[in-house]
Amino acid sequence: MLVLIKENSHQMSLEGALQVATQIKLKPDSVIGFATGSTPLDMYKELIRMHKDEGLDFSKIVSFNLDEYVGLHPTHPESYHYFMWENLFKHININPTNVHIPMGMADNISEFCNWYEQKINSYGGIDLQILGIGANGHIAFNEPGSSLGSRTRIKTLGQKTRLDNSRFFNEIDEVPQYAITMGVGTIMEAKKLLLLASGLNKADAIKATVEGPIMAKYPATIVQYHRYATIIIDKEAASQLEGEYIDSSL
Ligand code: F6R
Repeated sequence: MLVLIKENSHQMSLEGALQVATQIKLKPDSVIGFATGSTPLDMYKELIRMHKDEGLDFSKIVSFNLDEYVGLHPTHPESYHYFMWENLFKHININPTNVHIPMGMADNISEFCNWYEQKINSYGGIDLQILGIGANGHIAFNEPGSSLGSRTRIKTLGQKTRLDNSRFFNEIDEVPQYAITMGVGTIMEAKKLLLLASGLNKADAIKATVEGPIMAKYPATIVQYHRYATIIIDKEAASQLEGEYIDSSL
C-alpha cells in the first residue's frame, strides 16, 4: 500500500487526476470504477480540464460506479447517475453506452446486482477503482460490519452515513434508507485501488485504514491486503498517522 500525503485537498485531487490519466494513457480502453461524494469532485474537474486542454481521451474507457441510492430516479438531482453526468461524464467524450451505474429503480434488485457483477467480469474486471472513504470507515456503501468478501448487493445505510449525506438533501428523512453497492470483495478484485481522503473528519478512518487491524468494523481496512492500493490524502486526513510516509513534496 502506497500512502501519499499531499499539502492540501487540491494537491490530493491533482495527484489523483494524474494517476487516473496515466492509467487511461497506458490503456485507453481501461475499465475505471468511479466514486461519487465530495472527495473526487475536484479531481473530476481536473480530469475535465485535461480532456479539454490536453486532449485526454475517454472515448474507449468503460465505467462502473460503486453505488446508487435505492428509489432515486436517475434524473433525481441527488442520484449518483445525475452526479456523474453533471460532474464528469457530460464534460468528457465518454461513450454513454460504456457507462454503468447501479440502477436504484431496478424492479428486481438482486437480479440486477448479479447482472452488474457479470457485466464487470465481462470486461475483464476493473483496472482502476477510485474510492472515497466514509468517516465511519465505509467504502462505497459497505457500512461497518459489512462482510469483507461481499459482492454487489442492497445495503441498509447506517444512521451516521445518512446524517453525513443529509447535507445534500433538505432533511435527513429524505436520505434513502437503502443503496445498491459493489461489495468489499468486488472492490478488492479491481487491479488497482486509488483511495482519496481529505479533511480532519476523515483522520480517524484513515488511521484505522492505514495502521489499524483489518476488521469488518472498518471495511476500508481491507485495502491493506490489496497489492496495488494507493492512498492519497491531505495533511489533515493524515494527522492521526504515526508511521513514516512519503513526503508530500516528493
Ligand atoms: C460514493 C461512495 C462513498 C463515499 C464516502 C465519502 O460513491 O462510495 O463511499 O466515497 O461516503 O463521501 P465524501 O467524499 O462525500 O466524504
